[in-house]
Amino acid sequence: MKLDKKMVKLLNDQFNAEMYSAYLYLDFSNYFEEKGLNGFANWYMIQAKEEMAHGMMFYNYIHENDGALKLEAIDRPEGNYKDDLKVLEEALKHEEYVTSLIDKIVYEARDLKDLRTEHFLAWFVNEQAEEEATARDLITKYELFGKDGKGLYALNDELAGRTFTPPQM
Ligand SMILES: [Fe+2]
Repeated sequence: MKLDKKMVKLLNDQFNAEMYSAYLYLDFSNYFEEKGLNGFANWYMIQAKEEMAHGMMFYNYIHENDGALKLEAIDRPEGNYKDDLKVLEEALKHEEYVTSLIDKIVYEARDLKDLRTEHFLAWFVNEQAEEEATARDLITKYELFGKDGKGLYALNDELAGRTFTPPQM
């Protein structure tokens, strides 16, 4: 089966979007590193690695299905973060946006009767639910504990413990 040209373009765009996500989270990590919140920095560094891995899943899928992939420029993150909470909220907003991108490709796969791609994307549909929940959870935790010095210290410590496990399809 050869992928439809329109589908290859969408998958290619999503590869780029995942790479941008990695870049955005790296920017968040950089922000927290500069603030001395190394746990938050670690959290977003691992998030960046996950996004890179997501991108590679699209990369591999396109190649495995004989599509031509093009590496386009990756946008620069806006980078004006007013405070810590704004960064966490930005992460949630971004994940909701990525969900909308994935959904759009699923609808297109359905239109094209491309069951293989629809099946491939099912993993990402679930992943996005998880990503949104995690981002929301972090906002809640910050609102509950982040405004108090001791609470922020404990939360930062908790986030420092996150380790990277490559995503399993
Ligand atoms: Fe992703």
